[in-house]
Amino acid sequence: MTAPESSSPAPNSSPLITLGHPVLRQVAQPVTSVSDGSVQQLIDELLTTVRTANGVGIAAPQLGHSLRILVIASRPNLRYPHAPLMEPTVLINPRLLSASDELELGWEGCLSVPGVRGRVPRHRAIEVEYCDRHGHPQQAVWEGFVARIFQHEADHLEGKVFLDRVQSETDLLSEEAYQAMEIATLP
Ligand code: NI
Repeated sequence: MTAPESSSPAPNSSPLITLGHPVLRQVAQPVTSVSDGSVQQLIDELLTTVRTANGVGIAAPQLGHSLRILVIASRPNLRYPHAPLMEPTVLINPRLLSASDELELGWEGCLSVPGVRGRVPRHRAIEVEYCDRHGHPQQAVWEGFVARIFQHEADHLEGKVFLDRVQSETDLLSEEAYQAMEIATLP
């Protein structure tokens, strides 16, 4: 989730792919061996890329790897000044256990859809299970913005992007118009 201002991924990392690349429209495959060296390297690349790109989340397909791995790394940054701070969390083979009926509209961006923001409905609260990078099963309950990040990134594993969930043309803005709106609504 999100896009950089102008920075690019760190050297030696896989390049980010953007809308139009077929991998972004594929259903990603489950990870069968978490300890595999290539899987661990990909996780490191995801963590590096989301940090250097001022992101709050990223999914493996965005680096061209059709695997069910995502990172949630919410923190306040230029793109999301009100994002809550959390330790970056790696989720392998994540699964949604439950979701609140209540939906919230919120603005999203995506590294793979540069220059566009869209307002998207998401479940307000979710419960998920996943495997961490050490191969241990984990569960988590998230709400609000972090729940939104999970749902955005999990969509990438199904070949979906946030544009697919925008309900109205007026819920799409250029990055410039979005930033102007954000500034206009600051207290
Ligand atoms: Ni995205």
